[in-house]
Amino acid sequence: MAIRVEESTFYLETKASSYIFTVYDEKYLVHLHYGKRIGTVGQMERIVDLDPRPGFMADNAAYFGMDGSRAEQVVCAEVLPQEYPCYGHGDLRSPAFHAQYKDGNRITEFHYAGYRVFEGKKALKGLPATYAEPGDRVSTLEIDLKDELTGLCAVLSYTVFEEQDAIARSVRFENGGKDAITLQTVMSANVDFYGKDWDLTHLDGSWARERHIHKNPLTNGYQGIDSKRGASSHVHNPFIALSGRDAGEEHGDVYGFSLVYSGNFIAEADVDQLDMTRVRIGLHPFDFAWKLDAGDEFQTPEVVMVYSDAGFGKMSRRFHDLYRTRLCRGAYRDAPRPVLINNWEATYFNFNEEKILNIAKKAKSVGVDLMVLDDGWFGKRDLDDCSLGDWVVDRRKLPDGIDGLANKVVELGMQFGLWFEPEMVSPDSDLFRAHPDWCIHVANRRLSLGRRQLILDLSRQDVCAYIIDAVAAVLDSAPITYVKWDMNRNMTEMGSALLAPEHQAEFAHRYMLGLYYVMETLTTRFPQVLFEGCSGGGGRFDPGMLYYMPQIWTSDDSDAVERLFIQYGTSMVYPAGTMGAHVSAVPNHQVGRTASIKMRGDVAMTGQFGYELDLALLSDEELEAVRGQIQQYKKYRDIIHNGALYRLRSPFEGNNMALEYVSQDGNTVLLFYYTVLAKPNPAVERIQLRGLDTNANYILEESGAQFGGDRLMHLGLNLKDKEDFSSRVFVFKKKQ
Ligand code: DGJ
Repeated sequence: MAIRVEESTFYLETKASSYIFTVYDEKYLVHLHYGKRIGTVGQMERIVDLDPRPGFMADNAAYFGMDGSRAEQVVCAEVLPQEYPCYGHGDLRSPAFHAQYKDGNRITEFHYAGYRVFEGKKALKGLPATYAEPGDRVSTLEIDLKDELTGLCAVLSYTVFEEQDAIARSVRFENGGKDAITLQTVMSANVDFYGKDWDLTHLDGSWARERHIHKNPLTNGYQGIDSKRGASSHVHNPFIALSGRDAGEEHGDVYGFSLVYSGNFIAEADVDQLDMTRVRIGLHPFDFAWKLDAGDEFQTPEVVMVYSDAGFGKMSRRFHDLYRTRLCRGAYRDAPRPVLINNWEATYFNFNEEKILNIAKKAKSVGVDLMVLDDGWFGKRDLDDCSLGDWVVDRRKLPDGIDGLANKVVELGMQFGLWFEPEMVSPDSDLFRAHPDWCIHVANRRLSLGRRQLILDLSRQDVCAYIIDAVAAVLDSAPITYVKWDMNRNMTEMGSALLAPEHQAEFAHRYMLGLYYVMETLTTRFPQVLFEGCSGGGGRFDPGMLYYMPQIWTSDDSDAVERLFIQYGTSMVYPAGTMGAHVSAVPNHQVGRTASIKMRGDVAMTGQFGYELDLALLSDEELEAVRGQIQQYKKYRDIIHNGALYRLRSPFEGNNMALEYVSQDGNTVLLFYYTVLAKPNPAVERIQLRGLDTNANYILEESGAQFGGDRLMHLGLNLKDKEDFSSRVFVFKKKQ
């Protein structure tokens, strides 16, 4: 069992890490250690500072009661590393918990009230989360904290995934009192670290430029990221990492925090006056309040913490392993997924059945498995200004309906997939005319449009039921085995016509609960359908979505060079198989760049591979290249998706990028090397491989040349940047 309890001290142990906290003075949860494995902590006095300090509030047993009673000052709470700090007494740093009670007071004092340990992991009611399967080395610790005065209980849950060096945390609040409580700050996790010599890494960007890596040294005060947009967003990803100043790709301490949630969030590090660093991550307290009636429960989203003692590379491999196998679900979790072609960049809204079938035929001839029909097949949608919500086929474009087209695609020997944007409604739609109050709005306030559309109010059960029925009716009507679930704007005027005033600030989270309910219902009802998430590209690329949809369209930017940055950044947390990646036309529609067909293929191949262009416009030579790419991808996708990723060169640090994948059995090694710009008389790039067997020999497939594993790792390969926008792929086989 990975969880030990010794003298009121809790030891959570993964393969390479210990997470330790203790009960102090029979009441307070004090954090002791997160990092490399240690046996026992010994005397607490040597780990935390228990001396009172001038200038700080006296806490713990120190109080002066209103009745004149006096207790002795023992410790200052603000000096202690706290496990789950609440607002109101001596710790004046940002709290993990803050609430308002019936009489208007905002003071909470959680005291330790017991614990439970069990094998496996409970599901989180209504929320996506990691899970355990029978036989997994996974166990859970639950700690009860209680506020005696109000009867509010916080159940802190810690699930230890031993193999993945991961701990999944969340909190469940149970109102055991007589009165309603308004929850205001409910972090999923808080970790107090000693010292401020850390770097903070996050993944930021914008539409078509998502998840670029940003790494900065911490300084005193707040630093962090958030989303108040109603989606995890293009701008920030619900992930931060704290790393030692000397940490790099292959060495040093790295702590990754990844929130399994798709809506408003906050993730921050706060360096205090004693240079201690508090990390908090969870639901955004901004514009959030939740009225918890007596007897009710509230569940926070889950945060997954991964500790790596060997740099960012190991952290990422741990996240990949966990998310690929114990977050993603369904028939497509482990199965090889189809190579698809999507018509969006080939036709945009301007298509008919003939055009789509021509794309499909050409695609079939080069080995594509699945034809995806994107936006524009329903209502009267010739532009993005109408018809969202009216999920009825446009017979002007598709006279034989979706079923007619789907059946013809199936007759070609391909699968058929369809685009939806189920959460949206166009002002010019039958749905909006029939139900104007179904959109997110606030009475007497104007409506802001984004991409000329509004968002349906998924906090309402009737709206959720409509979406389920409308999507299900189409899926039932035709042989559809893939759905692209898009979402193209952020939220404004957040509020619901159905919520009472005291529940309005619950809106953003209630929307997410509604969305998760809809997705759970549809993915359960259509297990044969592969769902791909999308939000104007990667505007909702997060672990919450992956629980329902095992792949997500990574970005609307399909340019091979920009994708180097986006996919490299995304790989910090997310495995290759989750990243939708397509070869598109040149000049590229987003940036006008012309990258070689080889580079475009080699970039897309390190994700979930597909095409998004009119193949009829390619030369015979290019079509031959496409045929070869699909064969190559199918041959190696298992290694790319399920093997171990080593990032050898970062595009953020130079003019090239190198990625290496080692198969699970260690017998095949793939090396992808990309050049952005060529240089005259270029320097030699020495690429040293990782994760090989130093005692084995490896054969380079293209030449039959033999290399020792030690030579490839310690000496490396000499490569040169020869041409703009070019790439090379090397395959090594371990000699048996
Ligand atoms: C945004 C998506 O990211 C694109 O791939 C495409 O599906 C369009 N929406 C369609 O409107």
